[in-house]
Amino acid sequence: MSFPVTRPRRLRQSELLRSFVQETRLSPSNFIYPLFVCPGSGVKREIASMPGNFHFSVDRIGEECREVAALGIPAVILFGIPEKKDETGSGAYDERGIVPQAIRAIREAVGKKLLIVCDVCLCEYTSHGHCGLIKGGVVKDGEVDNDSTLKLLARVAVSYARAGADIVAPSDMMDGRVAAIRQALDDESLSNTAILAYSAKYASAFYGPFRDAADSAPQFGDRRSYQMDPANQREALREIALDIEEGADMVMVKPALPYLDVICRARQEFNCPLAAYQVSGEFSMIVAAAKLGWIDQERAMMESLIAIRRAGADVILTYFAKDAARLLAC
Ligand code: PBG
Repeated sequence: MSFPVTRPRRLRQSELLRSFVQETRLSPSNFIYPLFVCPGSGVKREIASMPGNFHFSVDRIGEECREVAALGIPAVILFGIPEKKDETGSGAYDERGIVPQAIRAIREAVGKKLLIVCDVCLCEYTSHGHCGLIKGGVVKDGEVDNDSTLKLLARVAVSYARAGADIVAPSDMMDGRVAAIRQALDDESLSNTAILAYSAKYASAFYGPFRDAADSAPQFGDRRSYQMDPANQREALREIALDIEEGADMVMVKPALPYLDVICRARQEFNCPLAAYQVSGEFSMIVAAAKLGWIDQERAMMESLIAIRRAGADVILTYFAKDAARLLAC
């Protein structure tokens, strides 16, 4: 049956009808809100490249988390900015480091009302800005050494889990890190701590604003010897399969909007929960264009989030989480 009997516009006549036949829905319960924790006290400092996002000191992060929980957002992911950086990123696995302190402060503020996810990586903590150790110490253009980095990543994960993290999320892209982290957690009787693996993480230009925010831009070279080539889709499926085999409880595709095909394939091929990270550049592009009056920020935000859900992501890590949750509550 075709026109004039069939008229797709019939179901688009009113907001009520449109909402009635909506295939994909967005809810604050789909979101993870990223937070940056920094040294000092009384700090709530806006990040220039990411308007509306802040660096919080440990004493200010609890109040922010109460607000996040009140909006119906179930989880935050923490990124730490250490006092000082060194060659081995020791600030990352310091049991009294910035992230363990933040975890305790958040628990005190909101109890079990929020899931605390912690990004596990060395790049915010290393003087050279790479996600792992440099072979033979820091020599310019040295190679990021996979196997010696695994032990450190496992230590980072254990220190976050001990401090009370619900989920650890390795974002370094070293081979074998999920297995190393699972083993270390289980050895420390932390078998209830879940792993959200950044499985298909691409070497992307869209991380620009984050590297500014976390002061984690590599001091030499780039991350293309460990993060994925944007040209590759099948390889993403291999990465995801390996991480699941190694013990990942949830997997992630990152960035999100430029990689909707990868999200879609991953949803079809795997049954475990799938996350997608709408990264800093995706966020800041929308905000910047809106500031210039070239785009409607709210509509572009909601359209990008629903697109990521439509492609198949269960969970979205997004800097828009609070804004979108507020809008969804109306
Ligand atoms: C750490 C890490 C990065 C992001 C999340 N974890 C930066 C990077 O790989 O350079 C990017 C997040 C964003 O851009 O919002 N490895």
